[in-house]
Amino acid sequence: MTAPAASRTAATAAGGVVPAPARVITGAGRFTFDAATPLAADPALARAAAWLRETLGPATGLPLPEGPGGVEIRLTDGLGPEEYRLTVTPASVLIEATAPAGAFYGAQTLRQLLDPAAFRAGRTGDRTWTVPAVTIADAPRYAWRGCLIDVARHYLPKNDLLRYIDLLATHKLNVLHLHLTDDQGWRLEIRKYPRLTEVGAWRRESPRGAKRHGLFDGRPHGGFYSQEDIREIVSYAADRFVTVVPEIDLPGHTQAAIAAYPQLGNLDTPLDVRTEWGVGENVLNVADETIAFFTDVLDEVLELFPGDYVCVGGDEVPKTQWNESVPAKERIRELNLRDAEELQTWLMRHFTDYLLARGRKPLGWDELLEGGLPPGVTVAAWRGDKCATLAARSGHDVVVSPFAETYLDFRQAEGDQEPVPIGSVTSLDAVHAFDPVPAGLTGEERGRILGAQAALWTEHIDSPRLLDYMAFPRLAAFAEAVWSEERDFGGFLARLAVHEKRLDALGVEYRPAGGPHPWQRRPDAPGHPRTRAEIDGKLAAWTANLRF
Ligand code: ACM
Repeated sequence: MTAPAASRTAATAAGGVVPAPARVITGAGRFTFDAATPLAADPALARAAAWLRETLGPATGLPLPEGPGGVEIRLTDGLGPEEYRLTVTPASVLIEATAPAGAFYGAQTLRQLLDPAAFRAGRTGDRTWTVPAVTIADAPRYAWRGCLIDVARHYLPKNDLLRYIDLLATHKLNVLHLHLTDDQGWRLEIRKYPRLTEVGAWRRESPRGAKRHGLFDGRPHGGFYSQEDIREIVSYAADRFVTVVPEIDLPGHTQAAIAAYPQLGNLDTPLDVRTEWGVGENVLNVADETIAFFTDVLDEVLELFPGDYVCVGGDEVPKTQWNESVPAKERIRELNLRDAEELQTWLMRHFTDYLLARGRKPLGWDELLEGGLPPGVTVAAWRGDKCATLAARSGHDVVVSPFAETYLDFRQAEGDQEPVPIGSVTSLDAVHAFDPVPAGLTGEERGRILGAQAALWTEHIDSPRLLDYMAFPRLAAFAEAVWSEERDFGGFLARLAVHEKRLDALGVEYRPAGGPHPWQRRPDAPGHPRTRAEIDGKLAAWTANLRF
């Protein structure tokens, strides 16, 4: 379904809602709130009402007392789990939904219809709060609308992570993929193995800028989430209809764990938590004890994260150490495997089968295609359409996150003014035009594309301020790509003009359309920009051996 032009104009007229609702019909007049305006919700949809009170109260001073005759959140039959209808007349506001998430998204849209000052955390003066008369019918295009945040390369303090959960919910995104472990840091407390955070949660220093410049900051970096923190984060997210998908990246990207517990690695020499970016050669060994160790880790992960999906990584695993390791070579011989790629699939199957046996859904990066996808794994396809297509064609569910289109650590524009310019240019309009479904899929294969996620990898994003700059406004464009049928970039820009006022009110330090403010630049940290042709060339080389 393509939104008709009249509806686009209406979306802009009706307060510039982002992501664009499916259908908007503007009415006449406005609904005016006052201190007596009541709010009533069906008990099944009470969360949306509570959120409206909690969120609007401090900014507007509106108490929204319980009762009929003002704002009503009504349970209705027949809408999808995230679908809602919002009807505003001068006399009333009605949100209709069949499920709590739909009611919540109706409430989110209602907040956007108010003046952007409704996005502040306190009152800024006397104001009459009104919303325009409008009828909105809205539902998402994809069920999986995610954002990966890499808290391993740079730790994101807990309160900043909570703030990001609110930002995701504001944009009707519903999955937070938390990349919790990597070579450069282990960020999750594991009770059974305390050294994972005692040793693994911090590194001596970090690179300053891209690898080729050889610069380091000489400054320790670290942090981790206690299990209490994680419970809080997961519950805070659930209250906002965001599911947290934890990632424990195996068997590569594990140097921080090996630094903490050297017996997990392939070498006799001790390792430090890695202080360089890029793909490291230190991977887990394939001993039974190592499998048991990470099974214990997953047990604690399952206790903490109640969602269906758990990501076990599988990306970028150099086979150098296994090809030289006597025990790894013995495993390959013993199990009659073709090579180290199949050894990786064999190893990963312990973890994916373990999750499946406990009623969870394993998520793994698309490199798992190389040694054969373990049964039941949902594939996070980051290396382009070919991998997404192969995974869907072999009967696996797929979440797409193609790096040239959705990796938001890639630079936003040409020029050396962008803070730490890496990758090719991933512009706002390219993110807005992103279509998660690769061309050429059959109807059945298309049905396996659950949705998409943007990725905030943080090698070069060392602070919440820079995270804001890299995420916004592109994440708003991405939200539209996964929520809306709308593909009118001009319409998006018109609505973005309003939406930026909301981001200002929230204190989000987004990239201005004209480029970074002077204080958003990083002349101290030179980058390594690539052309799109270079990036496409890398992709072709990585996936050359994969056959349809
Ligand atoms: C990835 O970008 N290594 C998943």
